Amino acid sequence: MHLNPRLSGEYHSYVDHSFRIDCSLGSNPFGAPEIPEHVVKDIIFGIDKYYCHRELSELTYLTRQFIGIEDCRITYTTGSLGALELIFNKLIDHNNRTMIGIGPQFVEAVSEFTLVGGKYQSINMLDYQNESDLFGVLASKISSQKPALVYIDNPNNPTGRIYDRAYLVEIARVCERYGAILIVDEAYGEYLTPEQSMLDQTLVLDNLIVLRTFSKGLGLAGIRLGYLASSENLTSAIEAAVSVFTPTYPSIKIASATLPNAKHFLEMNHSKTEYFKQQMIGLLSEHNIEVLGTSISTPIMLLKKTGTNLSKLFENIGIKTCSGVDFAITCDAMTEEYVRLRIVGNDIDLEALKQRIQQL
Ligand SMILES: Cc1ncc(COP(=O)(O)O)c(C=O)c1O
Repeated sequence: MHLNPRLSGEYHSYVDHSFRIDCSLGSNPFGAPEIPEHVVKDIIFGIDKYYCHRELSELTYLTRQFIGIEDCRITYTTGSLGALELIFNKLIDHNNRTMIGIGPQFVEAVSEFTLVGGKYQSINMLDYQNESDLFGVLASKISSQKPALVYIDNPNNPTGRIYDRAYLVEIARVCERYGAILIVDEAYGEYLTPEQSMLDQTLVLDNLIVLRTFSKGLGLAGIRLGYLASSENLTSAIEAAVSVFTPTYPSIKIASATLPNAKHFLEMNHSKTEYFKQQMIGLLSEHNIEVLGTSISTPIMLLKKTGTNLSKLFENIGIKTCSGVDFAITCDAMTEEYVRLRIVGNDIDLEALKQRIQQL
């Protein structure tokens, strides 16, 4: 063969042939549910007006079919982040802005709280071998500190672990005894079974708020729609605090169009989530990257490699993650040795991920 000898020399180009695999944010790796064409066409119809509350009633009705919570106990917000802002800014007494949580957890919950002058303390979950000890320590901290709020995300972001509901119910009772509101943030709640969720406890516990969102399992992060479920008493206070015409008209239309098929969409995604998570956990363990306690049914996980800047290591092979450093405000132990990784959502990215991790 007579090949061009210059082919083995240097070749300069500004084109990068690799692509970045983005495993950083917690949006749905499988995308959005199908939105019927007539709904897409109808989205801007009536957008010049404030909407009629009948549309909101339809959404509440459909949400009730979906999660079984009555209309009088649901309040919609601008994402579940909007729900947290509402609680921190308008619901609780400004003279006592104190909150206790389990770290690491959802960063923005803590940064929003401290931004309005709140004082946050956390218990490091990694210090405890079992949940009985972890929740025991949390209970005694609540009894000694009497905070205004206790915030727990379940499933936990970043680990993707799911707490045993019995401990959450027990903590809710401890909170009740000491005058605290318990926020259970179920942003990843579509990855829980009904038995793992705290939604039904809002019927019996007056001091419990459960947060939900359309952003994660339901694949609609862009519509910025979330909701709070709470007791009737607490809901009337929350409703008084929420701004009129929340949520937006287009988000109501999109959510109402997708809810009737939501169970089917979730069922399809559950098995895919487990498949990709299993594959990725196997791959990471082969390369001596530790995966901390997690549930196979959730799309995120926390990884650790001692003595290594792990997000840099991934960045060098074209994989985008969230560094543990970003979680440090929720838990002192979080350093550059940790990253949060979201699963990929297709075989092409999985294969590329495999090839890149094999280079490590
Ligand atoms: C635990 C948790 N809560 C709340 C949110 C905010 O989600 P959204 O405002 O999109 O509903 C997130 C997003 O990452 C999250 O992980």
